[in-house]
Amino acid sequence: MEIWRAPLDFRRACDEARQRGARVGLVPTMGALHRGHQTLIEEARKHADFIVVSIFVNPTQFGPNEDFARYPRDLEGDAKKCAEAGAHGIFAPAPADMYPPGDETRVHVGATAAGLCGAHRPGHFEGVATVVTKLFALVGPAIALFGRKDYQQLKVIERFTRDLFLPVEVVGVRTVREPDGLAMSSRNAYLSAEARAQALAIPQGLSAAARAFAAGERRAGMLTALARGHVAPVASSIDYVDVADADTLTVLGPEEHTPDRVLLALAVRIGGARLIDNMVLGEDPIPLDTTAAKEGDEERHA
Ligand code: PAF
Repeated sequence: MEIWRAPLDFRRACDEARQRGARVGLVPTMGALHRGHQTLIEEARKHADFIVVSIFVNPTQFGPNEDFARYPRDLEGDAKKCAEAGAHGIFAPAPADMYPPGDETRVHVGATAAGLCGAHRPGHFEGVATVVTKLFALVGPAIALFGRKDYQQLKVIERFTRDLFLPVEVVGVRTVREPDGLAMSSRNAYLSAEARAQALAIPQGLSAAARAFAAGERRAGMLTALARGHVAPVASSIDYVDVADADTLTVLGPEEHTPDRVLLALAVRIGGARLIDNMVLGEDPIPLDTTAAKEGDEERHA
C-alpha cells in the first residue's frame, strides 16, 4: 500500500494513473476507518480502476471546542483496512501540507450548509468544502464517494461540485449499521459500553418515526416527536431532531405536512460523543428492519 505525504507527489501518482488510462476514484476520510469506509472503497472499485483514500483530520472543519485533538488516529490500522478493501494508495498529508503558510482561500456554501449541523457547527461545512475542493484539485478524480450518514455533508459537496462545474461524479453510499442498528462512525470509539447501549435510542427513534411514516403519518412535528421521545431520555443534549426537504435541506416547521420523501435527521450528545444519524423517509430502509437493507444502495450525481 503506497502512502503519499506530499500533495505534489500524490498529484503526480494520480496523473500517472490517468495517463495509463485508469479511471481514478477518491474516497475522502479522516481515518479511524471502519466497515462503512471499507464499503465506500469497495463501491469505488466497481466504478474506477485506481482507488485512492485520503486520510486527513482536517483542522478547518472543527470548532475551537470540538474534538480535533482527540479525534482517533491510526494510520497503520487504516492502511490494513484500505488494503483489505482493495484501495491502491493512501494520501496522508500533515495539516501544514494542506494549509501552508499564507493559505487564505475558503469555499463557502450557502443555504444547504446553513441548517441542521450547519446551525450548530459554525464554519464546519466551509472547512469540509474547502478541503474536499483541494482534494478534488489534487486528485482529479472521475468519481468520489461519501457516506450518506453525513447526509448534509453529501448535499453540500454535491452543491459546490455542481456550482463550481467540477468534473467529478459525487456518489452517496448507504449508511452501514451495526447488527443492532447503530450507524458506524469513527466517533463511536468515544462511547463507553453504557453509552454505546444508550446510543441505540438513535436507530430506535428513527425507526419509530419511519414506521409511523410508512403508516401514513405526515405531520412533521409528530415525526420528530417520535424520534425525540427515544433519544431525549438518554441524550445529555440534543442539537436538533428535524425533518427537512431531502434535496434543499430546508427544515419543515412542526405544523407542516411532509412530502412522501423527506429527510429525518438528528444530532445528539450521548456519553460525551456528538452522534449524528438520519434517514430519508420514503426512500431508505428502516434501521431496525434489517430485511430491508440492500447491498450497494447508492445515489449518483454527475
Ligand atoms: O466525512 C469525513 O470524513 C470528512 O468530513 C471529509 C469528507 C473527509 C472531509 O474532511
